[in-house]
Amino acid sequence: MKICVIGTGYVGLVGSAVFADWGNQVIGVDNNPEKIKMIESGTMPIFEPGLKELVSKNISNGNLKFTNSLKDGIADAEIVFICVGTPMSEDGSADLKYIYQVADEIALEMKTPKIISIKSTVPVGTNRKVRDYIKSKTNIDFDSVSVPEFLREGSSIEDMNKTDRTVIGSDNKEAIEKVAKLFEHLGSPIVKCDLESAELIKYAANSFLATKISFINEIAQICDLSGADVTKVAEGMGLDSRIGPKFLNASIGYGGSCFPKDVQALFKTSENLGYHFNILDSVMKTNKNQKYYFLAKIKQIYGDNLAGKKVAALGLAFKNDTDDIRESVAIDIVKILLDLGAEVKAFDPEAMPNSKKVLGETRISYENSKEAALKDTDFLVVLTEWKEFKDLDQNLILGLRDKNVFDGRNLLDGVKLKELGINYFCIGKK
Ligand code: UGA
Repeated sequence: MKICVIGTGYVGLVGSAVFADWGNQVIGVDNNPEKIKMIESGTMPIFEPGLKELVSKNISNGNLKFTNSLKDGIADAEIVFICVGTPMSEDGSADLKYIYQVADEIALEMKTPKIISIKSTVPVGTNRKVRDYIKSKTNIDFDSVSVPEFLREGSSIEDMNKTDRTVIGSDNKEAIEKVAKLFEHLGSPIVKCDLESAELIKYAANSFLATKISFINEIAQICDLSGADVTKVAEGMGLDSRIGPKFLNASIGYGGSCFPKDVQALFKTSENLGYHFNILDSVMKTNKNQKYYFLAKIKQIYGDNLAGKKVAALGLAFKNDTDDIRESVAIDIVKILLDLGAEVKAFDPEAMPNSKKVLGETRISYENSKEAALKDTDFLVVLTEWKEFKDLDQNLILGLRDKNVFDGRNLLDGVKLKELGINYFCIGKK
């Protein structure tokens, strides 16, 4: 199949490489020529495991090309996927300016019938509005199909290849069947529906997962108050197949470019439709408070003044296996520690270059290993769930001057640390 993917962010770049790897002829489009040059020369604009190799393999075998000309990109395409950003506007709704910019250009440059699919996460009703908008500007026939994306950063290639389901929404059954052909070989269920349901499935899924995280974060607070252990509670809950074990890790709160934005956007869409979404209101409040719950554990020991304290901070990315720091709660916490006067020695396997841009270099140093970050510090905070933080050198932990460890991801073995004489603070765990 001939495919054009517009936008080379997470969804667009990973999507174009994976579609090409499935044997399709794919052209990736981005209006930033520097980014195109970078990708073609083998430098990925984002860190994503396996992406560099997949892109270069498919450029070499001729399945994948990139261009900064949307006109050339869509010329022969049967399906055009729009994968541009939909950032949060000031009022909390999704900002659709990039979608409409692309819609304008497609309307201008489209010379043959196509299927146009918005893969970016867009509020319910957007595909239909954009369809009508393009229709008002061109006489060329086309179909609108909503195919929301469910990949996670850090495991996006695997997520696309082993997706739990594909969702395809359109008014036109033939267009649905055509798009379904692209995904049928995966063998996973395909949900075929109308445009609006497809759009809402995406928001509902992300909001439900965010709700699950906020729920377990509140349970963790009850665990702290009652002496229960949240990891055991989550294990016991998760074994119920109606609940499932995933997304029950208590934490400093969810972050990233999706959950905070999408929960807020669904809340806003509901308000606009005249419905107050009570649960999402609480989910957002719980998530906002969760970092302060963690910080309160630090303040309980040190008070409000951390001047003269040297803190080892492990993790800056919003989660493991990514260099992405958008809406990272780890970054928020480091900022607050710096505001309280602390000196921070930070380490993150991938996110330090991005972090430097927002945290600066005053009273914070970026170390080249977890060991280096731990050396000569008073206490430790663990802020991102990188697997490699699970095993920390015992002697270095014992070397912490105040013997205090604050684990915002429940990663470390608290029982063992306590046996060693370390004061271990975490989120609802023993
Ligand atoms: C999320 C969804 O999981 C994807 O299915 C979706 O496609 C994507 O958003 C999107 O809309 O594009 P992502 O933002 O990459 O993916 O990250 P997640 O793995 O979902 O993690 C989100 C946040 O929740 C992270 O800050 C993570 O640390 C936190 N989290 C996750 C927890 O605090 N506890 C958990 O149990 C799981």
